[in-house]
Formats: sequence, C-alpha cells, structure tokens
Amino acid sequence: MTRALPTATSLYDRVSRVIPSIEWSAFSDDIDAILGLKRQRNAVILAHNYQTPEIFHCVADIVGDSLALARKAMTVEAQVIVLAGVHFMAETAKLLNPDKTVLIPDLGAGCSLADSITAWDVRLMRERYPGVPVVTYVNTSAAVKAESDICCTSGNALAVVKSLGAPRVIMLPDEYLARNIAAQTKVEIIAWKGRCEVHERFAASDIQELREAYPGVTVLAHPECPPEVVAEADFAGSTAAMSDYVGQHKPARVMLMTECSMSDNIAVEHPEIEFVRPCNLCPHMKRITLANIRSALEENRHVVTIDPHVAERARWAVERMLFV
Ligand code: 13P
Ligand code: SF4
Repeated sequence: MTRALPTATSLYDRVSRVIPSIEWSAFSDDIDAILGLKRQRNAVILAHNYQTPEIFHCVADIVGDSLALARKAMTVEAQVIVLAGVHFMAETAKLLNPDKTVLIPDLGAGCSLADSITAWDVRLMRERYPGVPVVTYVNTSAAVKAESDICCTSGNALAVVKSLGAPRVIMLPDEYLARNIAAQTKVEIIAWKGRCEVHERFAASDIQELREAYPGVTVLAHPECPPEVVAEADFAGSTAAMSDYVGQHKPARVMLMTECSMSDNIAVEHPEIEFVRPCNLCPHMKRITLANIRSALEENRHVVTIDPHVAERARWAVERMLFV
C-alpha cells in the first residue's frame, strides 16, 4: 500500500516558530509539488544544515553537515539525488554514487574556499614540500580532491591529520581551519590562504560585545572562523557538532557564529532556547530555493558530471576519509 504524502498544510506547524504564516503561502504550492515529484521520480533530497527551514524541515529526506551528507549519500537507494547545498557537496555525492543521477538546483551555488585553489596549485605545493601528505577539505572541486592524499571535513579534520602519522601535513585550502586544527595537535600544519567569506567576517570583539549585551550566553563557533573567534567561543565544531551541542547541553541562551539558517533550523527543535543571532548569510547556499528544487525535479537539471579520470582519484581521497 502506498503511504499518503504529507501536505504543506500539515507541515506548517513544525516550522511556525521561524516562518511567519503570511510567508507560508509563497512556499506551500512548491512544497506539495516537490513531495509529489520525489515519489514520481524516485528521488531523495539531501540538505545541508545551512538550508532555509522550508527546505530543511519540509522537503529534505536527509539533513546534516558535509560529513554526514557524504556518509549518508552512500546508502541512498533512490535513483535521483537532489543536493540542496553547494556544488562541492553535489560533486561529493556523485563521486560516491557514480551510477545515480545527482542534481544541483543552481549551478552557481559555489563556495569561496573551493574557488581559492586549483589542481595546479596543489601540484605546486607538492613540489615545494616533497613527501608531505596533502589533506584537502571537502570544500574543493573534484579536480583538487584528485590531487590529494585524503579529504577531511570540519567534523573529522583532527582525526584525519592524526591518522596519517606524519610530522608535517599540508592542509588545504582553509587557512583558519588549518590554524584551528594546528592548535590541537603537535603535527606541523602547512596551510593555504583560502577563506570562507561567511566565517572570516566574525571577530572576537563581536563575541565580547554580545556577551555583555546577553549575559550568560553560550557561544558556539564553526572552525572556519578566525582562531581568535574560536578561542573566544565556548565550543567550536562542525555544523552537526554545534547542533548536537545545543541538543545535549540545552543552554538557556545560545549564539552560533555561523550561517544564519543554522539557528532557525535548530530553533525549530528547541522552542525553550533563546537564540541570539549575529549571523552571516552564505550567498551560495541561499541560491537554493524551493522553486529551483522543483524545477530540478521537473526538468532533470542540473545534472552533475565529473571527468571519469578525475573522479576515480577524487573518490579514493573521499572514501579514505570515510574510513578514518
Ligand atoms: P560543515 O561540514 O560543518 O557542515 O561545514 C560546511 C560548510 O560549508 C561550512 O561553511
Ligand atoms: Fe563555502 Fe563558507 Fe558558504 Fe560554507 S559558508 S559554502 S565554506 S562560502
């Protein structure tokens, strides 16, 4: 027996704390259409934690940080995967599922970190530091991953660096993530100059000011933030680690030094917690909308493809990370 699909009307209660009812009419038609199209096309939607609540809570089948999305992508049975996130995440899903159709609703959903480095740059780093292993953040193109020894995410970077057992490691391309990891290990880390355009804008002084304005606030920071921000925070971790921290510790008042939708998505689950919101928007994540997810499913676009020679080497680096 086929189960009845939920409807936009039945889903509204879930997100009513973060989406005003006046805005809901702009979403409900697309939500109903997407729920029907997913079944029709045997498709699933994987959504990153930075997706807006109407995507994250109403149409996504699998949600999480980059590491969880990569892991869960491997277990997907549906024939079509729509990646509600940025392009490198869709490429990672395709690397791990070469036989499935992977769609990204907007090809312009990039990432300043992925744009900061090319495969050629990685080859030059290898020439400059012969024999030093290269750990590459997943926020990169498949071509850059293909030049690497192993990938990492913000959720496993420290474990990946330690797993290599080397005294020196090249860690690309996020300078701040590299420095934040270097602070936790004796391994010498050689960094690149890439930055996340969202997290580099936070300053330690923001935290100091907000601690005065909101006494007792617990501050969580993403490790793409500058090291001074991480040092000033109470906890630093991946988007999933921050979400888990809130669920486990249930601070009365919390501030997430990260992308804006994170607080909205967690607030849905924790009405008792006060979220202080000095957040920054990621313009790339925000290119994904209900309307273009619907078009992606209706028109089968944009299909993610990767050169097979690149894919084979890039897959190896991603899979190696998943076994750490
Ligand atoms: P996470 O892996 O922590 O979800 O981070 C991805 C990202 O792009 C953060 O800016
Ligand atoms: Fe890239 Fe930063 Fe946006 Fe994450 S938040 S996708 S690292 S630009």
